[in-house]
Amino acid sequence: MSKPSPISTTVVLGMTADGKISASDPQAPRTTDAADQEHLEYQVSRADLILVGAGTIRAEGTTFTIRNPELLAARAVRGQSPQPITCVVSRSLELSVDLPFFSQDVERWILTTRSSMERNTQPTLSNLARLVDLGDIDLNWDQAYDFLDKQGIRKVVALGGGNLTATLLDAGRIDDLWLTIWPLIFGGRNAPSPVEGKGFIPSKAPLLQLLESRQIGSEIFLHYQVLS
Ligand SMILES: NC(=O)c1ccc[n+]([C@@H]2O[C@H](COP(=O)([O-])OP(=O)(O)OC[C@H]3O[C@@H](n4cnc5c(N)ncnc54)[C@H](OP(=O)(O)O)[C@@H]3O)[C@@H](O)[C@H]2O)c1
Repeated sequence: MSKPSPISTTVVLGMTADGKISASDPQAPRTTDAADQEHLEYQVSRADLILVGAGTIRAEGTTFTIRNPELLAARAVRGQSPQPITCVVSRSLELSVDLPFFSQDVERWILTTRSSMERNTQPTLSNLARLVDLGDIDLNWDQAYDFLDKQGIRKVVALGGGNLTATLLDAGRIDDLWLTIWPLIFGGRNAPSPVEGKGFIPSKAPLLQLLESRQIGSEIFLHYQVLS
C-alpha cells in the first residue's frame, strides 16, 4: 500500500485491438493517428513531469514534446515550464548519450538506484540529466514520490512502456489511465502489452472504474480510475 501523496499520476497509452503497445519489432515504422496524437498532447500538456521507462527511450529515441500554441499558452498561464520534465526510470543506466533524447530542449531527470550510480560507467550522463538515486538495489517508489513532492511536482503523466506501468501499478501509484484502442492488430507473442512485469493474481488484480469513453472514427478512448 503506497503512502498518500499530493501527486496525481495518470498513465496514457495506446494499444491495438489485440492489446499490443508496439509490434514485435519495436523499430518497425508506424503511422500515427491525428486524433490520438491530439489526445496525447493534451494529456501531456497537463503534466509537470513525464515518467517513462528506459526501454521506451531506447526504442523511440526521443521524448514527447508539446507543440500546440494553445496548450503551451495554457501551461504558461498555469506557471508551468513550456515542456514537462522528462524523467526516465532506469536500473541499468544503459542509455546511450547519442540518443536524440539527450539533445532535446527539455529538462531531463533519471531515477535510478544507489548501486546503479556506483556501477555507472558513463560519467557524461550526469552532464546531460539529473541523476537521482532512490533506493539501494531496487527503486523505492515511496522515496521517489517524496522526492517528486519536495521538487513541487503535482501532476505526473506516465507514458509507459509496459514494464514501467507494471511497477507503478504494483506500487499503488496510478490514479487513472487513459487507453486508446487503435483499430489495428499487431499480434506477436513477444509484442509488449500495456502492463508487463510478473502479472497479478486475479484476487489482487487492480480494479478499474470506467469514467469516460469516447469514439473518434474507429478509435476508442477509455478513461479508467484505479480503485484499488
Ligand atoms: N503504445 C504506447 O502507448 C507505448 C507507450 C510507451 C512505450 N511503448 C513501447 O513499449 C516498448 C517498451 O516497453 P518496455 O515494457 O519494454 O519498457 P519500459 O517500461 O519503457 O522500460 C523498462 C525499463 O525501465 C526501467 N524500469 C522500469 N521500472 C523500473 C523500476 N521499478 N526500477 C528501475 N528501473 C525500472 C528498466 O530500465 P533498465 O533496463 O535501464 O534498467 C526497465 O528495463 C517499446 O517498444 C515502446 O515503443 C508503447
